[in-house]
Amino acid sequence: MENRIQKYKNYFQGKRVLITGNTGFKGSWLTLFILQLGSKVFGISNEHHNNDILFKSSNIKENIQQYYLDINDLKSLKEAINEIQPDVVFHLAAQSITLEAYKNPIETFRVNALGLANLLECFRNYKKKCDLIIITSDKCYKNNEWVWGYRENDILAGEDPYSASKSIAEIIFNSYYQTYFKYQDDVQMVSCRAGNVIGGGDWSTGRIVPDCMRAWKNKKTLEIRSPKSIRPWNDILDVIYGYTICASLIREKSLNGESFNIGPQQNKELTVLELINGVWENWPEKDFLHFSVTEDNQVVENAFLKLNTDKIEHTLNWKPQTDTKEMFKRTAKWYWEFQQRPNEIRNYTDNIISDFISNL
Ligand SMILES: NC(=O)c1ccc[n+]([C@@H]2O[C@H](COP(=O)([O-])OP(=O)(O)OC[C@H]3O[C@@H](n4cnc5c(N)ncnc54)[C@H](O)[C@@H]3O)[C@@H](O)[C@H]2O)c1
Repeated sequence: MENRIQKYKNYFQGKRVLITGNTGFKGSWLTLFILQLGSKVFGISNEHHNNDILFKSSNIKENIQQYYLDINDLKSLKEAINEIQPDVVFHLAAQSITLEAYKNPIETFRVNALGLANLLECFRNYKKKCDLIIITSDKCYKNNEWVWGYRENDILAGEDPYSASKSIAEIIFNSYYQTYFKYQDDVQMVSCRAGNVIGGGDWSTGRIVPDCMRAWKNKKTLEIRSPKSIRPWNDILDVIYGYTICASLIREKSLNGESFNIGPQQNKELTVLELINGVWENWPEKDFLHFSVTEDNQVVENAFLKLNTDKIEHTLNWKPQTDTKEMFKRTAKWYWEFQQRPNEIRNYTDNIISDFISNL
């Protein structure tokens, strides 16, 4: 066991790691995590993005080399990648909000689908070894409202624009693999399809936890639409552990072209209501009503979304390290800390990460 984790850590030592979308919620946590594993980190993001509070408040820019560019500016992207010469890439840059995608489908398709094609294009004639981890989403599957979890070989056919953009991204991933990367050794890649992620530092609009935090900070009642919807929620660090374990084993386990679901263990999926109540239990101020249910028929969201994670558990020995109670507690505590001591949030976040890594 120790040997396996040591090999995992060794993989990142001294590597040049590029993270696209590094200024966002997951990108910031991933950067701090990878820095602790001893890599040199480079980031590519667009400059004007409103979910970069964790990135900014933790002064992450001081520890990495940052490039601000649009993932669809192929010339600038190629120049940056040629300059960076990455050994590993985590591709997270995306328009990541479902409600925003309803308003701006073209922009969502442009960033989430064509943006990935641009990234892969930069590696078509790359002349050194590089491992690419392509982040899409659990929403890439055709949602049949099944009570059982989607497997990696289920049909890719998201219907709303965000989900469809992630299905298309998976098809582009497969096209580049089958056409260019299958019969060579230099560039190897996997795609990761994670479910909903919770953790401190997310301020996106239209996501449950950030919406709770915005409301509760001002002692306001959060209005929710679908309390009974089931989603595969995971703690941010478990998802990052999944992405990084895929990178570290890509060559050893011959994973080139494979896709992996990342989600909670079977029967650990939660309803929206369970999630809100779980975080609320750990929120120190309780002298107001924490949620009420409203009717909103503008947006049709699927009620059931479960993921089957047998493949990553059996192939890569990954499973969530954080139980549900701990996930709620860690999340609520992070936002409370940020509210009380914003200047100390980098230390606080680094400590959470080092505890997680040392318990692997
Ligand atoms: N957060 C979740 O619950 C969740 C669940 C499943 C999948 N995902 C996926 O994981 C990835 C990261 O999600 P997140 O929650 O951190 O998103 P986020 O919105 O917090 O961050 C998005 C990042 O992408 C960058 N970006 C956006 N458009 C860009 C462009 N045109 N050019 C360059 N950079 C651009 C932003 O600057 C930012 O750094 C996304 O691909 C998202 O779709 C997220």
